[in-house]
Amino acid sequence: MFQVPRGTRDFIPEEMQKRRYVEHCMAATFASFGYSEIQTPTFENLELFTAKSGESIINELYAFTDKGGRELALRPELTAPVIRCYVERLQMEPKPLKLFYFGNCYRYDRPQKGRYREFQQAGCEIIGANTCEATAELLALAFTLLKNTGLKNIQLNIGNLSIVDAIFRKLHLLKDDQKALLPFIDKSQFDDLQIALQDCNILQETAEKFIGILQTSDVEEIKEFIAGDPIAEKELDNMKTTLDFLKNAFHIVEYTVKLSIVRGLDYYKGLVFEIDAPALGAEKQLCGGGTYELVSLFGGSEVPTSGFAIGFDRTLLALDGEGFMFPPLKLDVYIVPVNPEMNATSIQIVQELRSQGFTVDFDQLQRGIGKSLKYANTRNVETVIIVGPKELEKNMVTIRDMKTGNQETIAIPEIYKTLHKT
Ligand code: HAM
Repeated sequence: MFQVPRGTRDFIPEEMQKRRYVEHCMAATFASFGYSEIQTPTFENLELFTAKSGESIINELYAFTDKGGRELALRPELTAPVIRCYVERLQMEPKPLKLFYFGNCYRYDRPQKGRYREFQQAGCEIIGANTCEATAELLALAFTLLKNTGLKNIQLNIGNLSIVDAIFRKLHLLKDDQKALLPFIDKSQFDDLQIALQDCNILQETAEKFIGILQTSDVEEIKEFIAGDPIAEKELDNMKTTLDFLKNAFHIVEYTVKLSIVRGLDYYKGLVFEIDAPALGAEKQLCGGGTYELVSLFGGSEVPTSGFAIGFDRTLLALDGEGFMFPPLKLDVYIVPVNPEMNATSIQIVQELRSQGFTVDFDQLQRGIGKSLKYANTRNVETVIIVGPKELEKNMVTIRDMKTGNQETIAIPEIYKTLHKT
């Protein structure tokens, strides 16, 4: 027996129905916020991903050499590909450029529930706008996308790498030490962070204060701690203005400031954020994003960029976990020719109804009315039309409402009117 490769999944029709439902919801929300869709290749030149993160990232990638000797990688995410495409083809477009995407991503992760080697992201990038109102809209979009799918229990946490940088400066931490500390902060491993800070010769009292600041949601407390650092003070002011827009104009109040949000990827600068579905446990992070710098690294002219990506698979897990009722798979009409002579007329009716926008199928196995009705039930059919010789002589058919079981005989030209009524 063959099986799907480790960390990948098949999606059978009931699952695809749910995935397409969420995708349509999200595409409509992106469009309503003025975003246009973009698509990039599934694989890219390996260098696109090593340019910022270095060779060590290769361990986490599906990287390979093709028959022409090119070093390639299946994309682990879409920000670098979208920015590559921007630098190649879109730099002259009017700003801001608002782009959204759906795409499969590949990471050589250890698979577990909510963590796959092939997974889908729904994300966006905004290029050329970094005002507080633009950033507030980006946060609002991420939150609204998830809410519009029907999710109830989500948490938006907002951090800021420029402020964390300022604190590192204040503590006189070397760049290498900073790099070593970030994973502890990212994973909220504060006991390990305390030990690591002491290894960097930070006094216990100072380390405790710093860890407290990473965990506080009180902006005033953060303000006091960074007082005297003009870059951090300006960044915090901007963050406050952004949050005011988020709360008072976009009416999103369910957020927490958390400087311990530092993101795992190397390209972020300034404001960063994550949205969690706490019920999912270890793999609870549904969305991650923020402001970042890649354009000049890829040879383009400096321009502000920010964006986020939602883990599509985790969103579906979270919806299932909340018991969300997805619209079921269904078929509008099923047509049953009573004998083979009825096939031609039946197919003509099928085609006419399809051209009118109904979803229609017909019995292709000549299995009689009883079995056909049973099969129609398994397909969640609303209406069955039975085409029999006696009725057809009078240019009529029998139409059955599958919910009520009511049946009536109607003239063929009446079918369309009758169906449009239901
Ligand atoms: P990321 O946090 O690496 O950010 O991924 C975004 C989301 O993808 C995560 O929050 C998670 O829900 C989902 N995800 C990541 N890895 C896996 C996996 N192995 N299995 C299932 N789901 C996963 C980015 O990728 C950035 N490009 C986001 C961004 C866009 N930043 C700016 N613009």
